[in-house]
Amino acid sequence: EKGGFPSFMEKEINEQPMAVEQTLMGRTDPEGNLVLDELKIDESVLRAVDKIVVVACGTAAYAGQVARYAIEHWCRIPTEVELAHEFRYRDPIVDERTLVVALSQSGETMDTLMAVRHAQEQGAKVVAICNTNGSTIPREADAALYTHAGPEIAVASTKAFLAQITAAYLLGLYLAQLRGNKYKDEIAGILAELEAMPAKIQAVIDTQDQVKSLAQQMKDAASVLFLGRHVGYPVALEGALKLKEIAYIHAEGFAAGELKHGPIALIEEGQPVFVIVPSPRGRDSLHAKVVSNIQEIRARGAVTIVIAEEGDEAVADYANHVFRVPQAPTLLQPLLATVPLQIFACELATAKGYDVDQPRNLAKSVTVE
Ligand code: BG6
Repeated sequence: EKGGFPSFMEKEINEQPMAVEQTLMGRTDPEGNLVLDELKIDESVLRAVDKIVVVACGTAAYAGQVARYAIEHWCRIPTEVELAHEFRYRDPIVDERTLVVALSQSGETMDTLMAVRHAQEQGAKVVAICNTNGSTIPREADAALYTHAGPEIAVASTKAFLAQITAAYLLGLYLAQLRGNKYKDEIAGILAELEAMPAKIQAVIDTQDQVKSLAQQMKDAASVLFLGRHVGYPVALEGALKLKEIAYIHAEGFAAGELKHGPIALIEEGQPVFVIVPSPRGRDSLHAKVVSNIQEIRARGAVTIVIAEEGDEAVADYANHVFRVPQAPTLLQPLLATVPLQIFACELATAKGYDVDQPRNLAKSVTVE
């Protein structure tokens, strides 16, 4: 049932092009408009939304952080992301004009469910983005947008993460379309870029031997750091989480801009640091900023492992290792940049002899608060 793969995790990593493709499937009409039939919330309510709050735990919360950049950019609706358990117990400001988006692979995470109930009690509408049909969170939510990643067996989430990000992009584009804002004319183009992602994810997977050989070399690392900016930041957090969860290595993700405010003190000779580099074609000099972060840590002895776009030559001089991902719009890059980090964690944990599908102390779905 592992389809010839040594673990469910590896199988699920390899299923990611399909997971994203299936999540996109059937959601546009012949004119290219996005149709989210499942979004059974009155259009007038969705038009009046003045704040979005994404609630989730673990990997799903990092998908939420990615979603936030996209939703705010496309919809111009203020969007917050909060760990469900923190949201629930801090008396959050939520009302009828708040749209709560609950992200959960299993649909059974108790912390997320309690946040959903709390938001509904305050009058908010809740959209659940879930991978498990008929589970509790989508049943209790006002509407459910299902990811179609297929069953995820490995405890550490991989394909559900990419599918959650994809579904959240669709929700953002749908709201932009519905509200007719200035990004309305760009929606068709972004959808076309999204449709191109499964093949690009496959191209990243096709380079996995290179990532695996580095993972084997680094199997005795005591600590691995991850840096990213903008959407690369939640990717860095997810890369670190994967390594903690299955390889039991100390790992931390940082916002690259935060480096000089503290984390750079951790850099010493030989410290491995993954850096997620934004597209050099993107806006706001993000790329140049991250390249200078790579220089700063390299100068202090870090071993830099860089995830960069094909054709981005600016990183070559400062990178000890470079993994390439195909070109994509900045907001969609997490669907590509996450993949080498998943492969790295899976291979490193395997090299240490751990059971990657059943990491110690963790459960696939945590149904207690
Ligand atoms: C954790 C799982 O306990 O729950 C993580 O080990 C997962 O992998 C998190 O990301 C949230 O789960 P779900 O089902 O709500 O997405």
